[in-house]
Amino acid sequence: MVKKVLMNSREETINLGTKIGRKLQAGDVLVLDGDLGAGKTTFTKGLALGLKIPDLIKSPTFTIIREYHDGRLPLYHMDAYRLENGGAEDLGLEEYFDSDGVSVVEWAQFVEDELPAEFLAIHFRRTDDENKRVLIFEPHGHHFEQLVKEQVN
Ligand SMILES: Nc1ncnc2c1ncn2[C@@H]1O[C@H](COP(=O)(O)OP(=O)(O)O)[C@@H](O)[C@H]1O
Ligand SMILES: [Mg+2]
Repeated sequence: MVKKVLMNSREETINLGTKIGRKLQAGDVLVLDGDLGAGKTTFTKGLALGLKIPDLIKSPTFTIIREYHDGRLPLYHMDAYRLENGGAEDLGLEEYFDSDGVSVVEWAQFVEDELPAEFLAIHFRRTDDENKRVLIFEPHGHHFEQLVKEQVN
């Protein structure tokens, strides 16, 4: 079931990420889309807090993939923005998706062909208010249906 929520501040977005991060399991794949500045990386900072990752989460734009290994589960944070012109096949994304870590992909429309059967898509939308965002959760598969039902409200 698709669920839409209004985040009134940056803190609310981080807090929802933290709540979800606490419940993530090995092998989970989350794909985030939305314009630049929509809040994808901010949400990922929350996920990292929920995973008890002590490091500062930085936008992976120039590295494509950043790995964090000091939390409850490994976090693989990817930014596919620069793959607009192809190249997703060469990254070995399946190895990340099949691993015992959590994969979070920003700009996932560029890696659509590589996605597993079960994943959580989250669409980030700006609003007329510069401090508010609309997040649309679109779960694929039972595990993510449950997660959204229980954690997003
Ligand atoms: N409600 C909100 N949720 C998330 N970010 C917000 C919100 N309101 C303002 N912001 C700001 O918007 C920016 C989002 O940037 P970022 O998370 O890097 O976006 P993206 O990764 O989608 O390009 C940050 O500067 C953040 O402080
Ligand atoms: Mg970003």
